[in-house]
Amino acid sequence: MCGIVAYIGTNSALPIILEGLHRLEYRGYDSAGIALLRNKKLAVHKTKGRVADLEAILPKRIAATTAIGHTRWATHGAPADANAHPHTDTANKLAIIHNGIIENARELRADLIANGTELASETDSELFAHLIAQELEKAVEIERAKHGLLTDAVRKVLLRIQGAYGLAVLHEDFPNELIVARQGSPLVLGIGNNELFAASDVSAIVRHTQQVVYLDDGEIARLTKSGFEITNLHAQITHREPAQVTTSVEEFDKANFEHFTLKEIHEQPEVLERVLRGRLEERFATARLDGLNLSPRDLLGVKRIKILGCGSAFIAGSIGARMIESLARIPCDAESAAEFRYKNPLIEADTLYFAVSQSGETFDTMAAIEEIQRKGGRVLGVVNSVGSSIARSCGAGAYLHAGAEVAVISTKTFVATLLMFAMIALLFARTRDLSPAAGTALINAMHELPGQIKAMIDNDKDYRAHAKTLAAFDHAYFIGRNAGFGVAQEGALKLKEVSYIHAEAYPAAELKHGPLALISEQTPTIAIVLNDELEKKNLSSIEEIRARNGGVLAITQGEDIPTANLGCIKVPQTHPLLAPILALIPLQLIAYYAAIERDCDVDKPRNLAKSVTVE
Ligand code: AGP
Repeated sequence: MCGIVAYIGTNSALPIILEGLHRLEYRGYDSAGIALLRNKKLAVHKTKGRVADLEAILPKRIAATTAIGHTRWATHGAPADANAHPHTDTANKLAIIHNGIIENARELRADLIANGTELASETDSELFAHLIAQELEKAVEIERAKHGLLTDAVRKVLLRIQGAYGLAVLHEDFPNELIVARQGSPLVLGIGNNELFAASDVSAIVRHTQQVVYLDDGEIARLTKSGFEITNLHAQITHREPAQVTTSVEEFDKANFEHFTLKEIHEQPEVLERVLRGRLEERFATARLDGLNLSPRDLLGVKRIKILGCGSAFIAGSIGARMIESLARIPCDAESAAEFRYKNPLIEADTLYFAVSQSGETFDTMAAIEEIQRKGGRVLGVVNSVGSSIARSCGAGAYLHAGAEVAVISTKTFVATLLMFAMIALLFARTRDLSPAAGTALINAMHELPGQIKAMIDNDKDYRAHAKTLAAFDHAYFIGRNAGFGVAQEGALKLKEVSYIHAEAYPAAELKHGPLALISEQTPTIAIVLNDELEKKNLSSIEEIRARNGGVLAITQGEDIPTANLGCIKVPQTHPLLAPILALIPLQLIAYYAAIERDCDVDKPRNLAKSVTVE
């Protein structure tokens, strides 16, 4: 998704905007641009490519104290200089940057063209610039000095928009203000000393201020260097007190790692310690998740649980669903949030819903939440980003506290989500028939995880070797049974996201129903063999593959597997519920090293973005 940074204050805006764009580049990185306002003159610079490409075309010094900057993830119009943001009106007096999609763009574009407007790009975003300029033209001369005229013009345009926007607007005739607005795409204000910031997420501004205000949908903010005013689409003022962010700027640095991906994989032991901290009630062999706002009576009344998410969040929810169903004996399943609202879902009063999202801004997950809430359902968030839209919409849930995850692929937040669901399963199970001894056994195994993961990460040389082998192939299968299938799904997603190897996951038993046709020496299989009651069946699946000359790399908790001709990676024993967490660690590192082997941009894979805030 696109990144937005805006500044109005007394310092030079250029370095602030550029630093912010670098920090947001993981949100979208096919083009970048900046608009600066100095002495009532607007200067716009933009280009296809990365922020570094933008820096290469900028004049050495631009002494402006008001500016807006943008990194793009293309939705309408290919990556190209003309489609990069900012976009301006015909008179080049007004500049906008936008994150989102205008769903009624076709009609609005037709009206503009019919009125003689010449469009300079293929984008929907450019329409904002012309429409706001049109509204301003309608304002009579005497009004032009009116406080809030620019805000009113923006408001009138937003009332005509269907779709999602995070928007920032500058105008030469209003040099002492900057307008931002949000609907469906996140925007946070940063309150400084004689300076105001706005950004798509706090990472872009946290080095300058820890005082923030998260805009809600339908809100417009008029920023000046001395303060801000928030109104809604009906021009009613809403008062919001700043909140203190807990994120530190160090979280957004690579420290001594070559890539954020590797740094975040290495952070996993301490992340899991943080996930557990203060959340285990050892005396009663259960978990303490006060943020769920569920009394023991509430817990007992839950008859079904449904978990929603997208991508890795959906996969983590699928594994979490198996944990809950097997330990607490409550019917539980996971669904992709992307399709959920389109099936006119049946929402039941005694079903509890969980929405999983690391960013807390995924549009499809947000839309699923709204559908459930519209029908009276109760949704709790399992979210990493504090204060995010999903966290605020759910109102209750559990924060992962995994720290900022900058790499596009999710790693530490994925395993943190699995551990969170293990605790949720324990909480529900101990209000039902799980014994204290069994609860204590699970808690003890949870405490072992950080050390076990650290040992695996510190001895990753075998993973590098296996990654080198896999990097030579363009296709790969991942197979597993039960919770092992969830591991296979996430392993396949990791490998395809960062190394561009076409990787698919199948339930191991499904192979013989068709996928086996593709097994050959050119298509290796990664087999997840957990030491559960299905171990022998997984070994048989490996035999089926080997009988057709398919190569097999096994991830196993058990004995060596001689038939795994590409190798056998041993992972430590643990409680069956937690086995997916450990089985995943080698697959994360193999995906990482395979990407390096294939010279891929591991932190910013092509075509992807960290937070998908559009449909
Ligand atoms: C996972 O590696 C991807 N980055 C992607 O599938 C991601 O999990 C998905 O877009 C959901 O994001 P969220 O957790 O921020 O909602």
